Amino acid sequence: MMRNYIGLLGISVLIVLSGCRGARSEKTPFHLNPNFDWQPKFRAQMLTTLPPEGTVIWGNEHSFSSAKSREHYLKEDTVFYSGKLENGAFVSTIPVRVDAALMTRGQERFNIYCAACHDQSGTGRGMVVQRGFAPPPNLGDERLLTVQDGYLYDVISNGIRNMPGYAKQIPEADRWAIVAYVRALQKVQHATIEDVPESSRKEIK
Ligand code: HEC
Repeated sequence: MMRNYIGLLGISVLIVLSGCRGARSEKTPFHLNPNFDWQPKFRAQMLTTLPPEGTVIWGNEHSFSSAKSREHYLKEDTVFYSGKLENGAFVSTIPVRVDAALMTRGQERFNIYCAACHDQSGTGRGMVVQRGFAPPPNLGDERLLTVQDGYLYDVISNGIRNMPGYAKQIPEADRWAIVAYVRALQKVQHATIEDVPESSRKEIK
């Protein structure tokens, strides 16, 4: 008799539990044991981001967008990834083509990631600093005019003294775009009327 009750109880528990799975609902399912529910796997026609274990994808991945897939690549292009030459010295000029698109991207990324402290013109009076954070130097300081592009890239990637690094948030290509934009901000601070096309000069006088 008792056995039957235990058997029945067992079955009803199973029925109740099975009700947790498979029913249609708008809500996110509650996962007591998420084993195997989320896992890297292949589906037909899917792009792979998973190199076999112990191998490294060879080649150029600058076009890859997700940070996850980028990590799998062999970072062969030392200058692009570290801002340094083989001998460890900072590269003097940006190793990518500087054009209007890169500048626009750099401006946007600078205003997102840097302006909070450095302010949008780079003088170092961003909102976070106004609220008490250690003040950064003016990016237009003479000293920073003479540093290599690779140095600026390194500061963005790894931080310096009171400034945190942004390698985790900002992909390499965007860091170079920011470097290009910092150069533009510096130029603006030291611009003279000769830098303005003659036709536009009277507009700013
Ligand atoms: C949280 C605030 C903060 C943010 C955000 C920030 N910085 Fe800084 N930055 C600082 C501070 C503070 C210093 C001064 C560090 C020191 O000397 O202790 C600094 C210094 C620098 C320097 C000068 C390094 C030197 O040689 O003295 C550069 C260049 C620079 N930052 C660029 C950037 C760029 C580009 C970004 C955006 C990717 C950025 N920073 C984001 C706070 C910040």
